[in-house]
Amino acid sequence: MKEYNVAIVGATGAVGEEMRRVLEQRKFPVKKLKLLASARSAGRRLTFKRMGVTVEELAEDSFKGIDIALFSAGGAISKKFASHAVKAGAIVIDNSSAFRMDKEVPLVVPEVNPDDVGAHNGIIANPNCSTIQMVVVLKPLYNRSRIKRIVVSTYQAVSGTGKNAIEELLTQSKKVLSGENKVKADVYPHQIAFNVLPHIDIFLKNDYTKEEMKMVNETRKIMGDSEIGISATCVRVPILISHAEAVNIETEKKITSAEAKKILKNAPGIEVIDEPEKYAYPTPIFAAGKDACYVGRIREDESIKNGLNLWIVSDNLRKGAALNAVQIAEVLIERKLL
Ligand code: A2P
Repeated sequence: MKEYNVAIVGATGAVGEEMRRVLEQRKFPVKKLKLLASARSAGRRLTFKRMGVTVEELAEDSFKGIDIALFSAGGAISKKFASHAVKAGAIVIDNSSAFRMDKEVPLVVPEVNPDDVGAHNGIIANPNCSTIQMVVVLKPLYNRSRIKRIVVSTYQAVSGTGKNAIEELLTQSKKVLSGENKVKADVYPHQIAFNVLPHIDIFLKNDYTKEEMKMVNETRKIMGDSEIGISATCVRVPILISHAEAVNIETEKKITSAEAKKILKNAPGIEVIDEPEKYAYPTPIFAAGKDACYVGRIREDESIKNGLNLWIVSDNLRKGAALNAVQIAEVLIERKLL
């Protein structure tokens, strides 16, 4: 079997570490793994398949001989360095929002639009975490009946912001529990411990946040339907891993909740957990460290003719980021595009 030289840009970050884990767990055919981060981390030793790998400082010439470069060090780094990786002959799978809406850049969720991978100019974008888990679940329903409108509220873990946010939640929580009633907030504008913030990413001119508009625009691009009405409210909650979403959809034709459960049970990448009488529904703690998008609380919306309510939970670092990126690389290999 052919093996590939893989680079992880942002290897010391929350998603970068998960990328290393996912490559190993899925037995991705890695010939050599290059771990890239800032000068702060250069020289650190990390392990891959029980071998030590030294973290190197990211530079323009880091990509010689690299076949696949998985980027997760933020949009500014992707904008600055992705072109150097492409020039060196690598295919970039970029987890930032830098290129997602570019017309020439495919935005891919393998369960939803795998055929889009081929049409790239060196860069393939990995969608936003909240978008990925939603479209994995909505696509099989869309295949039964077009979805006219989506109303979604998210409950997003702090790991989506990065390692410093995980640290901030833990530190603040300890302080509150030890009786301090004033805690310092650096990463978020307000205390996140024992609180919820209706604010993810920057505010835009229309008063939505960038995260909310990512859900709108990326969902339309991935589903290939620019007409779907989408309204999102994205909320940060004081949990470490996994995003949860309350999703309401309006379909053109009626889908009963029984039909929806059947469709979702047979769809790729999804597990239905929906036995309310046994209190069985997905939770973030349950989903953390797992690969599937979990869906439960499937109900018909009794306030409209053709509506459904769903509760979707998935590990934001895995399916929402690292796993989806590695699955894109696997599709490239399967289709002999690499
Ligand atoms: P470093 O750990 O050296 O700062 P997170 O999203 O968890 O905050 O992680 C961000 C990732 O992006 C880390 O691996 C971080 O490396 C990396 N990163 C941040 N700034 C740079 C930079 N200027 N050059 C290369 N990597 C960077």
